Amino acid sequence: MASHHSSSSFFTTFRLCFCLLLPFLLGMASAQLTTNFYSSSCPNALSIIKSAVNTAVSNEARMGASLLRLHFHDCFVNGCDASILLDDTSNFTGEKTAGPNLNSVRGFDVVDTIKSQVESSCPGVVSCADILAVVARDSVVALGGPSWTVRLGRRDSTTASLSTANSDIPTPTLNLSGLISSFSNKGFTANEMVALSGSHTIGQARCTSFRARLYNETNIDASFQSSLQANCPSSGGDNNLSPLDTQSPTTFDNAYYTNLVNNKGLLHSDQQLFNGGSTDSQVTTYSTKSTTFFTDFANAMVKMGNLSPLTGTSGQIRTNCRKTN
Ligand code: HEM
Ligand SMILES: *[C@@H]1O[C@H](CO)[C@@H](O)[C@H](O)[C@H]1NC(C)=O
Ligand SMILES: *[C@@H]1O[C@H](CO)[C@@H](O)[C@H](O)[C@H]1NC(C)=O
Ligand SMILES: *[C@@H]1O[C@H](CO)[C@@H](O)[C@H](O)[C@H]1NC(C)=O
Repeated sequence: MASHHSSSSFFTTFRLCFCLLLPFLLGMASAQLTTNFYSSSCPNALSIIKSAVNTAVSNEARMGASLLRLHFHDCFVNGCDASILLDDTSNFTGEKTAGPNLNSVRGFDVVDTIKSQVESSCPGVVSCADILAVVARDSVVALGGPSWTVRLGRRDSTTASLSTANSDIPTPTLNLSGLISSFSNKGFTANEMVALSGSHTIGQARCTSFRARLYNETNIDASFQSSLQANCPSSGGDNNLSPLDTQSPTTFDNAYYTNLVNNKGLLHSDQQLFNGGSTDSQVTTYSTKSTTFFTDFANAMVKMGNLSPLTGTSGQIRTNCRKTN
């Protein structure tokens, strides 16, 4: 009896300590990222990145979308550690051939250019993972969207995971509950998922990503549907591109949400956010209040950038973002 009593009080004490510690442990990784991380070690880093992004986006507006997406596809696969940038070699398999990435993600050359400029200014200091985080913010700003302060100090992985890229990056065939659980697995609320999906106010998708919606769904505006079918036949033309937001494909605005309210979502997964379910009211709000969308989007992007960063002495600062040192 006595021993039972003392062991249960031991566990009570242990549980109490653990409960007090848990928020601290969970917060720790992101607490190590700081906004002034390079202010003495590479004071020009942020301005170098911004001007390179502005150049790339003025050469091709879509590049802003492609760069934003790289950060997302990096962070959802074992955290924001630049794993997506590692090239396949004869003895290494990276993430570039994963279903959501293959023939789809782009912008690697822009990242290489930025990395070499930053390396010339401060060799071995600025991580590829931080470059992706800053580039995502600068791309959104370049296309007219909100700004946010990027926290820095991420380091680069020495590994990548093809299987996690295949399992953890959401696919366009998901329904609303699948989308909610995909983001919930990374610690996001349904509201944050809806805000982050507003990224689809810029950029393009391949016919193969939305064909099933065009030919098999009824919650789609008829004239929108027929105008898309011209460039996305029921078979063939897999790589033909259409804008995710037909109204303003190179402006970061809230038109994505007005499209959804009008049944003009391009991807099946897009229209799931406004299809008679629990997220309809948030989509309606964003469709009329772009400032609310912008605030929520910026906050959710900061949170995405905090996903499991490598900090301190973990990982490395790659010299070339495509390969480990
Ligand atoms: C909610 C779940 C999401 C799904 C199912 C999804 C799926 C997709 C798909 C299928 C494409 C087109 C790919 C192609 O056909 O080549 C795409 C493009 C894009 N996605 Fe998402 N995405 C999601 C969330 C996000 C998030 C959270 C972001 C950024 C924070 C994002 C940013 C983008 C951008 C910017 C593009 C256009 C890229 C370009 O033009 O190069 N997406 N997404
Ligand atoms: C892969 O091969 C290269 C040479 O081709 C070698 O330098 C490198 O250490 C190898 N990496 C691994 C993880 O075995
Ligand atoms: C959503 O998709 C999952 C997996 O495909 C399925 O099990 C579930 O029944 C679907 N939910 C709804 C509401 O359609
Ligand atoms: C439409 O759905 C049917 C039945 O699920 C499927 O066999 C067919 O491939 C789909 N069509 C397209 C264009 O995806």
